[in-house]
Amino acid sequence: MAQKVQFVETVLRDANQSLIATRLPFEKFAPMLETIDKAGYYAAECWGGATFDVCLRYLNEDPWERLRKIREKMPNTKLQMLLRGQNVLGYSHYPDDFVKLFVQKAVENGMDIIRIFDALNDVNNLKVAMEATVKAGAIASGTISYTTSPVHNHANYVKMVKELKEMGASTICIKDMAGIMGPQEAYDMVSAIKDAVDLPIDLHTHSTTGLAFMTYLKAVEAGVDIIDTAISPFSGGTSQPATETLAYALRQLGYQVDLNDDCLVAMADYFKGVRDEFVADGTMMPKSMATDTQCLTYQVPGGMLSNLLSQLKQMNALDRFDEALAETPKVRKDMGYPPLVTPTSQMVGVQAVRNVLDGQRYKTVSKEIKAYCRGEYGRTPAPIDPEIQKQILGDEKPIEGRYADTLQPVVEDARKKLGELAKSDEDVLSYIAFPNLAEKYFEARKAKEENVVTYSIVEA
Ligand code: CO
Repeated sequence: MAQKVQFVETVLRDANQSLIATRLPFEKFAPMLETIDKAGYYAAECWGGATFDVCLRYLNEDPWERLRKIREKMPNTKLQMLLRGQNVLGYSHYPDDFVKLFVQKAVENGMDIIRIFDALNDVNNLKVAMEATVKAGAIASGTISYTTSPVHNHANYVKMVKELKEMGASTICIKDMAGIMGPQEAYDMVSAIKDAVDLPIDLHTHSTTGLAFMTYLKAVEAGVDIIDTAISPFSGGTSQPATETLAYALRQLGYQVDLNDDCLVAMADYFKGVRDEFVADGTMMPKSMATDTQCLTYQVPGGMLSNLLSQLKQMNALDRFDEALAETPKVRKDMGYPPLVTPTSQMVGVQAVRNVLDGQRYKTVSKEIKAYCRGEYGRTPAPIDPEIQKQILGDEKPIEGRYADTLQPVVEDARKKLGELAKSDEDVLSYIAFPNLAEKYFEARKAKEENVVTYSIVEA
């Protein structure tokens, strides 16, 4: 029997995040949800990552309501979200009571698969979210944040995969957020993990460097079970490679691909129009669509590249782009070679920009980098450069053990504080994650409801 390859569609989350800074509102993709549902995907990645933040910050949407509406229109396809371990959907560590309730509510609102990663691959930061996912009855996808450095190798990754299995992972995801994994590396790594554990393996990469099609092909030859792709108008560049192209090529090579071509054609037609709107208003920038081989040196993931660009654009310093990009791997080395993924990608990126614009390294340091040097993000792959750590921390000593163990529970206090403004536990969770944004959203919602009431009285 032919080897079967399954697909995760990323247009609603990662493609959206990588190409247009997650600005896709619900109404723009809603007409296609039923078609995606019928297309035969293993899963649709549709929530988590930056979607939650952007819903509240820019789109005036309740992220929970978005999830429920997607679920309603997609009863047959597994919904997948990306969760940043102990960071959940934010940029720093949360107490365990928040992590547990968030995972429970995500599953209650319709989530099937929670892909859980940690920016440092510190499994202590994955444990609570993994256990909560299993307890809620969803699929815990234990994730490796893939990177290369003098301290990263297959033996480390295989050890991590075994730990993830013990924590309850039912699938393993190799997350190559920067698109730097080459075909041979994919073949070797998938083979090594297949030998170590008997779990389905999903490979996630980006087209940034142009390697992705070859990388997926060799991963499939090594027996990878699932690959992540984006419907063609939202594929390529900093996004994933095209769904239709991989389906076509893999079928030609004799693999079994259970995707419905009519659905894919309908999706491509529709999303072409959506893409053109974002190109026209400047949200989708040509730089994110291009193949950028510099990433093989700089290891800058898709989302980070477009963030770096908009950061420099805001400061009127787009001409310093190449310098900031070149400073990035130096900051990464100083910080003990963290994989570059949210939030470390932002932290390292912002620091690189500061170092370049200040004309002096570590003259200004974000509170996140300071917390990182204090050990609040977990164990770094290699030690942080001791001199730079000293320069940043002064006489302060880094903490030992798991940072979340030092945090007080937050859910009860937030519930009390919000009172009637929060209508549900979901509201409380939004508030803890993004207090200012959530409060603003709740106030706007309340005002809107009061208006509606007044209006209906007038009508009557
Ligand atoms: Co990604």
